Amino acid sequence: MPDIATHPDTVRHLVPLLDRLTLEQKAALVQGADFWTTVPLPEIGLRAMTLSDGPAGVRGPRWDEREPSLNLPSGSALAASWDIDLAYRYGAAAASEARRKGVDVVLGPTINLHRSPLGGRHFECFSEDPELSAELAAAYVRGLQDNGVAATPKHYVANDSETDRFTVDVRVDERALRELYLLPFERAVEAGAWTLMSAYNAVDGVTMTENDLLETPLNSEWGFDGVVISDWTAVRSLDAVPAAQDLAMPGPAPAWADLVTAIRDGRRSEADLDRKVLRLLLLAERVGALGDAAPVEPAPLDGPAFARAAAIEGTVLLHNAGVLPVDAASLGRLAVIGQNAREARTQGGGSATVIPEAVVSPLDAIRTAVPGADVRYEIGAVVQEGVAEIPLAQLRNPATGEAGMRVAFFDAEGTELFAENRRSTALVWFGGDAPIAASATVVFETLYTPAETGEIELGFAGANPGRLFVDEGLVLDDAPVIEGSDLGAAFLNPPSITATVAVEAGRETAVRVEFTRAAAGALSGALSATLGIAPERTDPAELIARAVAEAAASDVAIVVVGTNAKVESEGYDRTSLDLPGHQDDLVRAVAATGTPTVVVVNAGSPVVLPWAGEVAAIVQGYFGGQEFGHAIADVLTGTAEPGGRLPTTWPAALADVPVTEVVPTDGRLEYREGLHIGYRAWLKADAEPAFPFGHGLGYTTWTWDAAQRVGDTVEVTLVNTGERAGKHVVQVYAERADSTVERPARWLVGFATVQAAPGETVTAAIPVPSRRLAHWAGEWVVEPGEYTLRAGASVADLPLTVNWTAAK
Ligand code: BGC
Repeated sequence: MPDIATHPDTVRHLVPLLDRLTLEQKAALVQGADFWTTVPLPEIGLRAMTLSDGPAGVRGPRWDEREPSLNLPSGSALAASWDIDLAYRYGAAAASEARRKGVDVVLGPTINLHRSPLGGRHFECFSEDPELSAELAAAYVRGLQDNGVAATPKHYVANDSETDRFTVDVRVDERALRELYLLPFERAVEAGAWTLMSAYNAVDGVTMTENDLLETPLNSEWGFDGVVISDWTAVRSLDAVPAAQDLAMPGPAPAWADLVTAIRDGRRSEADLDRKVLRLLLLAERVGALGDAAPVEPAPLDGPAFARAAAIEGTVLLHNAGVLPVDAASLGRLAVIGQNAREARTQGGGSATVIPEAVVSPLDAIRTAVPGADVRYEIGAVVQEGVAEIPLAQLRNPATGEAGMRVAFFDAEGTELFAENRRSTALVWFGGDAPIAASATVVFETLYTPAETGEIELGFAGANPGRLFVDEGLVLDDAPVIEGSDLGAAFLNPPSITATVAVEAGRETAVRVEFTRAAAGALSGALSATLGIAPERTDPAELIARAVAEAAASDVAIVVVGTNAKVESEGYDRTSLDLPGHQDDLVRAVAATGTPTVVVVNAGSPVVLPWAGEVAAIVQGYFGGQEFGHAIADVLTGTAEPGGRLPTTWPAALADVPVTEVVPTDGRLEYREGLHIGYRAWLKADAEPAFPFGHGLGYTTWTWDAAQRVGDTVEVTLVNTGERAGKHVVQVYAERADSTVERPARWLVGFATVQAAPGETVTAAIPVPSRRLAHWAGEWVVEPGEYTLRAGASVADLPLTVNWTAAK
C-alpha cells in the first residue's frame, strides 16, 4: 500500500503547493471535472488539463467533424512496421495534433497483447509479442513526451479481450504476467511515461483500480512517478483510494462522491489523497499546465505525408507470385473490386475513432496512380452492416442552405434549448457544448438529394427510440435493439433500424428524425445517433457475376476485401475470423477467371483467407489511416516497398489457433496457456499457420550472410542481391535447449530494420541485454549457460545461428 513517506523525489518540491490546498480542493483534483478535463485551481496557477483518445491520431475534447483530426494507421499497422524510429515519429505526430487541439494527455498507446485473434481491440494493440510491443510502446511514449504531451499506455493490465470487460477476472500466473503482459508497460515506464491507464477488468480477483499491481511492480519496482488514470468509470468504490489509483475519470466520479467525508471520519487517509495530488501537480508541471511554464512547442508536422509513409511501412506483402509490383505504364484495363476499395475502413471502432478531414480510398488512389489505364469498379460483395452516414454532398441544411444538417435539442416541455449545424449525419456527443443531459428530444433535419432513383433502406442507429419522417410522412417509429450489456459498445457502435423508402434522383427529399432520449446511467451526458442508409438488398450472386465479368475483361484484378464496424470494434470480441458477407466467394470467382488477381486485405486483425493458394498476390493493408488508399497504390505500383512484417501469426483456420478463448467461465478468464501465446503457442503445438509471425515479402531479394556476437550485441550481415533498393526487418530469437525452467520454444530478443541499395551489404547491430534471456522467478534470473540465438526473416525462417553463453 502507498505510503506518503515514499514519495518519489520528483514530487517533493510540490509539497508547499499541496499544503495550500483544502481537503475539498484536493478531493476535487483527483476526479475529472467532466468527460475529458481535470479540475483547474487558478489560485495555485493550475489550469485544467485536457485528456483525449486516439491513440491512432488525437480526437480532441469534442467528437465533431467540424474539428477533424489526422487519422494515423491503427496500432497493429504501426507494429507491422517493426520500426522503432517510425513509432517515435508517430508519437511526435500525435503530440503535434494534441497541441493543435489543446490536448495535454493522449490516452495511448494501447499495449495489451494479441493473446487471441478474437480480441475485439486487436486492431488497436500492437502485437502478440511482448518484446516488439515493448520497444514500440517505449518509442511512442518518447515521441509524445519529448514534444511536451503526456502518453498514457493502457490498459494496465490483462485487458486483452473485451467480453464482460468491466467485470472479467483474469487469472494469469505470475511468470506469464511478468514476462508477457506487464513487459510492454515496464518498458513504457522505463521510457518515462507520465501517466498510465488502469483497466476495467480484475486480475486475480481484484479489479484493477484497486489492485496491488498498481503499487508493485509499477511504483515500488519500476519507479513510476506519474498519474494512474482510471479507464472511464473503472473506479468502483472508495477502495481505490488506498490503492495507487490517482485520477478517477470521467468526473466528478460517483464512486468518490463521499471522499471528503470518508477522510474526515477516518475511513480513508488524507496521506493517500495527498500522494495522488502531488502526482497530478507533477503531471501538470510536465505538460505546462502549472505556473508560468509554457507548453513545449511540438515539431512541425506534414500530417498527410506522415500518415502515408507510416501506412506504407505497415503494409505487409504476404504472398506474391510475381504479379507485383504491377507495371503502371503497360496496364490497359484494370478491375478494382470490393466495397472496401471505395469505402475504405481506415480505423477500428470505439473510443479509438477519430474523424478525419478526408479519406483516400484505394479506388481513387489507384485511379490517380495509373492515369493511363482504364480503371473499372464493381462492388462485388456487400461488407457494410447497418446504416452508414449519408454523403455530405447530397445534404442541405434547411436552416442555412449550406451542405449538412440541423440538429436541435428540446427539453421535456418542447422548448428548444440549443441547435447546431453539422456536416455529418453520424454524430457522437461525448463532451462538447450541446445540453445532452437536459434534452428530452433531439431532432435531425436535412434535405436529401439522392443520386439515383429507386428504393433505399433509410434509417437510424443509436441507443434511443426515434421517429423518422420523409417529406413529413412517418416511415419508422421504433427503437434499435441493443445486444449485450455493454452500453459503451452500444454507444460507440450502435445498432440500427431502417425502412424501405422510394426516392428519385435529383429530387430534394425532406428527412427528419426525432430521437427520444432514454436515461443512460453513467452515459447520461452522452449521445450517439446516426441518420443513414443501409446497403440495398441485392442478390449476392448477381454482384459477384458483375465483378467476374469485369475481371475477365481486365489485365489485372485488384480485390479489396475487409471487415466492417460490426466485426472489429471496442466493447465486444469477434466470434469468427471469416471475412463478412460473400467476400470469399467473390475472391474465388474472380481468381477463377484466370486474370491475375491481387487481393488487398483491409482488416485490423487476422482474417482467414481460404483462397490464399488461388490468387496471384496478397497484401495486408491493415486499418491504414486516412491515406490508406495512397499507401496501397504506392505499394501495388512499386513506387514504394511494402515495409511491413506480421506482428502477429496468421492462421489458416480458427480451429488451428492454439489460444482463442476470450469468454469467461463463471466470471473468470483463465490464461491456461501460461507463457505460450502467439507464435510460442504455435511452435509448442507444432502447428502450421498460414503466415508466420514476422513474415513479409519485399520487392528485392536478400542473402543472409553471417551473424556473430560482439559484446552484448548480435551483428547480422545481409546482402541485397536484387535489382531494387529494399527494406528488411532482421529478427533475432533465442532458444534454450537445456533449460531448467519451462521456456517458450523460441522467443524474440531483438530486431532492427535495414535499408540497402541493389548489391549493397548491410550489417544490423542488435543489442541483446542479458535481461532478454531472463525468466521471472520472484525476481529476474538469467540462467547461466548456453543459448542459441537465431537470426532471419521470420520466426519460421532463421538461417543464421550464434551460440551465446550467458555468464554466471
Ligand atoms: C476505453 C479507453 C478510452 C476511454 C475514454 C474506454 O471505454 O476502454 O481506451 O480511453 O474509454 O474514451
